[in-house]
Amino acid sequence: MFKAEDIRSGYGEVVVLQGLTFNVEDEIFAVLGANGAGKSTLLKTIAKLLPLMTGSLAFDGGDVTHVPAYELATEGLAFVPQEHNVFPDLTVAENLSLGSLIGKRTKEERLEEVYDLFPVIPDRLHQKAGTLSGGETQMVAIGRALMQEPKLLLLDEPTAGLAPLYVDNLFAKIKEIHETKGVSVILAEQNAVKTLAISNRAMILSLGEIFTIDDSENVNLDMLKEGYQI
Ligand SMILES: Nc1ncnc2c1ncn2[C@@H]1O[C@H](COP(=O)(O)OP(=O)(O)O)[C@@H](O)[C@H]1O
Ligand SMILES: [Mg+2]
Repeated sequence: MFKAEDIRSGYGEVVVLQGLTFNVEDEIFAVLGANGAGKSTLLKTIAKLLPLMTGSLAFDGGDVTHVPAYELATEGLAFVPQEHNVFPDLTVAENLSLGSLIGKRTKEERLEEVYDLFPVIPDRLHQKAGTLSGGETQMVAIGRALMQEPKLLLLDEPTAGLAPLYVDNLFAKIKEIHETKGVSVILAEQNAVKTLAISNRAMILSLGEIFTIDDSENVNLDMLKEGYQI
């Protein structure tokens, strides 16, 4: 459902991703790697927030190499960035409404699904998003993305900095999103063990290159240590 072929990207003259080729099917596809390995750069490149230097991208059967970010979103790609992923001065309800600008079913129908997934959200609707806890912020950010009725959801370190209880809950929710809504997920994470437990396959990035791609159940500690260069 998604394919990247020899993609290179980075910032200005600096090349970070050194020609990556991989595909994502109906699955949770983990992107692992140490701090600075290029996980965020990859997700931003897929979402078209960074220009491709070389290579091609295909999504849902079509070539999207030259398709801009807003159009990709209408075609079913939703991105939850690592930081600044809600509008802090807007209420939770307003943040969710922004997601509903894309998609087909009624806003009410989609809101009900988000409330079912994250039961704390209905109690926060009129609160400014900037006043939420870290865990609540991630729920609203993911909820907003789900309002877009995506086929492919890109999550950049959704559990970073969260309390352990929130971390386990959020991983369970990500699995539930994939299994019950049929959404493919590309999940960038540093929390390797928990990510491997819920993902189908994992790609370990090392200094902008693919160290390995394998079924998550085959990824062991030695591979992680070598890939993370620790
Ligand atoms: N805005 C930027 N400008 C220049 N270099 C950047 C920028 N953001 C990230 N980088 C560099 O790109 C590399 C990969 O970073 P990043 O994709 O954020 O890694 P990760 O998400 O895996 O921690 C790092 O060397 C980082 O310093
Ligand atoms: Mg990152």
